[in-house]
Amino acid sequence: MESKFLVFLVIAIMLAVAHCQDEGAVKPKVKIVKGKKLCDKGWECKGYSQYCCNLTISDYFQTYQFENLFEKRNTPVAHAVGFWDYHSFITAAALYQPHGFGTTGGKLQNMKEVAAFLGHVGSKTSCGYGVATGGPLAWGLCYNKEMSPSKLNYNYGKIGEALKVDLLNHPEHIENNATLAFQTAIFQWMTPLKKGHPSAHDVFVGNWKPTKNDTLAKRVPGFGTTMNVLYGDQVCGQGDSESMNNMISHYLHYLDLMGVGREEAGPHEILSCEEQEPLSVSPSSATSS
Ligand SMILES: *[C@@H]1O[C@H](CO)[C@@H](O)[C@H](O)[C@H]1NC(C)=O
Ligand SMILES: *[C@@H]1O[C@H](CO)[C@@H](O)[C@H](O)[C@H]1NC(C)=O
Ligand SMILES: *[C@@H]1O[C@H](CO)[C@@H](O)[C@H](O)[C@H]1NC(C)=O
Repeated sequence: MESKFLVFLVIAIMLAVAHCQDEGAVKPKVKIVKGKKLCDKGWECKGYSQYCCNLTISDYFQTYQFENLFEKRNTPVAHAVGFWDYHSFITAAALYQPHGFGTTGGKLQNMKEVAAFLGHVGSKTSCGYGVATGGPLAWGLCYNKEMSPSKLNYNYGKIGEALKVDLLNHPEHIENNATLAFQTAIFQWMTPLKKGHPSAHDVFVGNWKPTKNDTLAKRVPGFGTTMNVLYGDQVCGQGDSESMNNMISHYLHYLDLMGVGREEAGPHEILSCEEQEPLSVSPSSATSS
């Protein structure tokens, strides 16, 4: 009698587990438009896009990986304790996954893009320089102010319009809302800074094809040129600079922590922009000319 009940219980548990696994892998809704396969995967990749047929970020980047990358962000000496979390990252990313953020290509390419994007974010928000415990790369997302567009060259109006938030009158929203802060950062990754420029995303995933001028300027697809797109002469074409090396180190460290491995990042010429001609000149040097 008892053993029969046990068998029943085991079968019930097995069925429950199988059911859960089914729920876990989101089956996309699929439609074919002009010979192209388009998918919709619900909240994370919504609105029929070919990218949503690929893996989405939560398929290959999970809470524990986020915690590993940003392990020190909630220690008492950090400056934004309790602000950043995995959920706000995925919620923000959901806006751009149908446009290819973390969804262009296969798993390796996708993981590399997330590591590259977070490498930029981590180095911008780190307070680990000079801090001993855990090493300088363990302190990404220590601040919540550094992702503001004013720290880069983007304009609040344009970003606010894209995100449907009045950032011109309320730039402080970015410092009060981690989802919005991540959305702002991903917008900057996905959108060209100037007409005729590529986005960091396009440069990284290989959508961008260098012109003859780009080749002469040593701008090649990859992580190095993402720094050129985002920071121009503030970081690139300056030789072996510390700010450039900080970004590269964060990217490589995150590749390791995500289980991709830094060897996947490619050779130094792709990673660095030390010898690239800057794509843009920073406002301070531009006004003086
Ligand atoms: C991912 O999406 C891109 C763009 O639509 C496509 O070229 C690529 O084949 C897809 N990769 C996989 C693994 O489905
Ligand atoms: C934070 O920003 C997101 C994205 O704009 C928005 O959906 C959400 O409602 C905001 N949260 C709060 C508490 O204002
Ligand atoms: C290439 O560079 C030259 C010299 O800087 C410039 O005059 C020309 O307009 C550039 N061409 C393109 C397509 O950007």
